[in-house]
Amino acid sequence: MELIIVDNYQELSERAAMLIVAEVEAKPRAVLGLATGSTPEGMYAELVKLNSEGKVDFSGITTFNLDEYAGLAPEHEQSYYYYMRHHLFNQVKIRAEQINMPSCDLENVDQFCFEYDQRIAAAGGIDLQVLGIGGNGHIGFNEPGDQLRVPTHLVDLTEDTILANSRFFSSVEAVPKQAVTMGLGSIMLANKIILLAAGKAKAEAITRTVSGLITTSVPASILQLHRDVTIIVDREAAGLLS
Ligand code: F6R
Repeated sequence: MELIIVDNYQELSERAAMLIVAEVEAKPRAVLGLATGSTPEGMYAELVKLNSEGKVDFSGITTFNLDEYAGLAPEHEQSYYYYMRHHLFNQVKIRAEQINMPSCDLENVDQFCFEYDQRIAAAGGIDLQVLGIGGNGHIGFNEPGDQLRVPTHLVDLTEDTILANSRFFSSVEAVPKQAVTMGLGSIMLANKIILLAAGKAKAEAITRTVSGLITTSVPASILQLHRDVTIIVDREAAGLLS
């Protein structure tokens, strides 16, 4: 694991964007795995800026998002599809047919999950996967528990996650209780992984990810087994690292 500690969120966003730009420059038809949430917002803003300055071209890439709330329609302002359109897809030239989002639809969800993994494999696998991390150590919505799952699947969100994400909703009750998430299989099969974390609420999860035991109670700890992970954290998120 390569650990990059930066001074602030802007620097984190720029460093992450630079890694994506380098990947797309080296491979214009790159397959990118994308995350949502607060953490990568600055990275997407940087990418949009670099694109508008003609410094990166996204027209050849294929994207696969990590997760989506179950039952939230794509038009819903808190859906991850809405987020991606708002922060990236509507702001850069990228072909709609190259965008892949997990389904919010609970009907035939198992079939959808199976096909999502097949689509990732058919695209040649993920070249570069961007991850955030939950304060509880989740990546995607692979939540802590007794077991971790390999394929894309429907997951019950933990109380921690529902509470953490309620800041985007009118109330805790309004937060969906389930999500469809890529499993650890597609994540671990990615060629390269970048994990981003900012703020002291992530400090414990980062310490356990970087230097703790590999355990299902900190799903991100499995990244220790991946051969090309770059973790970019601000000083607060790095605050408990020795
Ligand atoms: C989002 C995702 C989640 C978030 C994590 C951190 O697609 O997969 O794992 O990355 O919950 O969220 P923020 O960045 O909002 O703290």
